[in-house]
Amino acid sequence: MPVIAFANSKGGVGKSTTALALAQVFAKGSSGVTLIDADPNQPLARWAAQDPDRIPANLAVLPDITEETIVDAIDTAAARDPFVLVDLEGSANVAVSYAIGRADLVIVPMRGSQLDADQAARVIKLVEREAKAYRRTIPYVVVYTCTSPALRSRDFRHIDRILAENGIPVLAVEMVERAAFRAIIQLGGTLYDLKDTEVHNPRAAIENAEALAKAVVAFIHERTPTEDGGLS
Ligand SMILES: Nc1ncnc2c1ncn2[C@@H]1O[C@H](COP(=O)(O)OP(=O)(O)OP(=O)(O)O)[C@@H](O)[C@H]1O
Ligand SMILES: [Mg+2]
Repeated sequence: MPVIAFANSKGGVGKSTTALALAQVFAKGSSGVTLIDADPNQPLARWAAQDPDRIPANLAVLPDITEETIVDAIDTAAARDPFVLVDLEGSANVAVSYAIGRADLVIVPMRGSQLDADQAARVIKLVEREAKAYRRTIPYVVVYTCTSPALRSRDFRHIDRILAENGIPVLAVEMVERAAFRAIIQLGGTLYDLKDTEVHNPRAAIENAEALAKAVVAFIHERTPTEDGGLS
């Protein structure tokens, strides 16, 4: 526990990258982490295969997880590890629904475009339907990805306003567009292995990912229902 699922039926919004960066931060903090790769394209399984020696010992990557195996995989991992992160395919399918049904938090990564926002809204509706169907609270939060720290387009500001008006929570920490985040997927290994000679400013990416991890944990604590049914 907790189980954190990364969902947005829009492809290429940073689900796998954000899941991987957070998994690396949690593992660095000595927590046991399971990273479940439930995307048939297997981006995280490929990451793991690239450089197995540089996978932290307390980070397990489960490949080839399908709609048949995802619920048991999540439950087994959650019984063992303090963090279970589930990377999902960029489409709405049964495995996505099952993962949302088991999640303590659904992270909805999105870039600041209308297309991403439309798909994010669909995922959020799915989360709300599942919460109703299972009669439980399923917290979710949007994380902006691939952002530019300096610039925010008019479209992006508009989307931000719409989310706020609709009461959709957005984490204050974003995943800024950084070469280091691309590099971990391409080169294997972790953010902590990257050298200044390989990629520009890996330290800034580490600080970004660590701040995001902190914000995610704080959000989970805020939203976890207490035993008397209220929110803690
Ligand atoms: N914060 C970031 N900084 C730089 N590049 C990023 C960042 N996040 C994602 N990318 C890049 O954007 C592309 C898509 O990212 P990623 O594969 O994580 O998205 P996804 O939502 O998992 O896609 P899919 O739906 O296909 O699974 C990749 O090339 C990745 O390197
Ligand atoms: Mg992906």
